[in-house]
Amino acid sequence: MPIPERFLDELTERNDIVEVVSQYVRLTKRSGSNLFGLCPFHSEKTPSFSVSPDKQIYHCFGCGKGGGVINFIMEIENLGFQDAVAFLARRANMAMPEEADTEDVSRRKRLLELNRDAARFFYEKLVSDEGKPGQDYVNRRGISASMVRRFGLGFAPDSWSALSDAMRKKGYSEQEMFDAGLLKHSRRGGGYDTFRNRLMFPVIDVRGSVIGFSGRILGDGEPKYLNSPETAVFSKSHNLFALNLAKKSKSGYIILTEGNIDVVSLHQAGFDSAVASLGTSLTPEQARLLSRYTGEVILCYDSDEAGRKAAQRGIGILEKLDLKVRVLQLPGAKDPDEFIKKNGADAFSNLLSGSEGQIEYRLRTVEDAHPADTDEGKVDYLKAAVALLASLPNAVEREVYAARVAEKAGVSRQAVIAEIDRVRRRKLRDAKNRESREQTRPAVNAQPAQRGIRYDDPRAARAEEGLIRLLYLDPGLARGRTLPDASQFSSPLLGRFYTELLRRIRSGERISPGVLAGQFTPEEMSHFTTVLQGPEDLANGERAMDDYINIIAGGTEDGDDLREMAEKLRKTKSYTEDKK
Ligand code: CTP
Ligand code: MN
Repeated sequence: MPIPERFLDELTERNDIVEVVSQYVRLTKRSGSNLFGLCPFHSEKTPSFSVSPDKQIYHCFGCGKGGGVINFIMEIENLGFQDAVAFLARRANMAMPEEADTEDVSRRKRLLELNRDAARFFYEKLVSDEGKPGQDYVNRRGISASMVRRFGLGFAPDSWSALSDAMRKKGYSEQEMFDAGLLKHSRRGGGYDTFRNRLMFPVIDVRGSVIGFSGRILGDGEPKYLNSPETAVFSKSHNLFALNLAKKSKSGYIILTEGNIDVVSLHQAGFDSAVASLGTSLTPEQARLLSRYTGEVILCYDSDEAGRKAAQRGIGILEKLDLKVRVLQLPGAKDPDEFIKKNGADAFSNLLSGSEGQIEYRLRTVEDAHPADTDEGKVDYLKAAVALLASLPNAVEREVYAARVAEKAGVSRQAVIAEIDRVRRRKLRDAKNRESREQTRPAVNAQPAQRGIRYDDPRAARAEEGLIRLLYLDPGLARGRTLPDASQFSSPLLGRFYTELLRRIRSGERISPGVLAGQFTPEEMSHFTTVLQGPEDLANGERAMDDYINIIAGGTEDGDDLREMAEKLRKTKSYTEDKK
């Protein structure tokens, strides 16, 4: 472990999870000692993201993500373990322990250098004689030479090894090229260049590092875009193409498009705040990144069904971050690039100033889908419109738009508002029920929610989970008992949690989720917090502990006792939460 555990302990101590999370999520006090808020890692309307001040962990009942404060920062700031620790150290005014570049850091640096050299290589190819196919395409799309320079566009020659040969000469190893996603493994062993015969767009992060590439095919064909795979320095879902440029824009908003060509074309027409997501629909991480640089996002997706759907999803994600959202319609054009080519920059400017607010946009979508020209149509329209308005958090907005809906449907405003209130009350009730169901679900035989984690023997695993949970909540229970060996665990992952807990308990160390974060992957940590959420009756901890140990040690033939136990636990109704 490059960072001493004592340092990590102090770090987690000084960065209270509630304070840290509150800087990103609005938390409100709710049942027991837990705080709840809207999950920053998936899109939701009712809060299922919980933070436990006692356990110093967070856990989302919706998407299953969870961990300690270091995991939270890793996830929300898109940082590796080392960087997340440095981030929290700065926050708590702690000096990082003396360190030369850790292996992790120097490996990342090396990948970034390789990417930069590759970008140079592609650029030089594009402006040289060999780059003719690329130049022809650039000219055909009307991209100016100054845009080629501003974006550092390039050309990947139609060759299996042009790039790798050049990079090898510069001293990079094959392994480094694989790690950067520039080389792919061929079936006969060895590798071949990932990007061939494509127009290259370097993806540059907000710090100015080349972290990956998008390569567009020259003309028609599939796939249209090839993006760098996920690497130690590149993640599609956490970055946006051209944000390095857009973040400097004075316009006050950021324009979000689908295609890299659209971005270049917009910048060329003077709209210097255009960005594109990298082949994914907008992710919460990308939205958060945007929110660091702007208060307003203008969605400018393609005018097809896919583009409309993507806009709807994008709105939901952006409005959660209190970003102002507008949606741009492009009459008579399939995308912004085509619109500008046809109508010019001024026309686009006009569109921008007339673009709709997101509620108007969504209301109009409802109107289009339910023509209110018959009585039946009116009822359908009302239902859909009320459902939409009921989801608005702001009461003033609900009132304002209720008036518009009332007029459209030919009913009174009061009737619409009453209906909205009814729907909202029902939704609240459903959310409450869902929550209490979630907290009392019997912990028997289910598979874990985390992808990639499966129990071979769910029944045994539940006992193993129970044992881990009890030890974590009340380490004193380990005293005076013969505890099973991790090798008796049916689930290797649970065995590893258990080993680590025991080691710490036996050496008298504190068990902080901060230290665990250094030893387990984020998925594993999420699973750990899921395990901790299970029901546990600490008053009968002794008894439960013995039962769990029995099952793990194989001392039970009776298949039903765990079920019975879960049943009993549920009846006692005393979850650890309520007792504190
Ligand atoms: N896309 C992608 N990777 C990127 C950028 C876009 O996979 N780095 C995908 C998007 O998900 C979307 C499509 O490519 O499905 C966007 O295409 P389009 O907007 O048509 O791209 P343009 O570059 O604007 O190309 P065109 O010349 O066809 O307009
Ligand atoms: Mn396009």
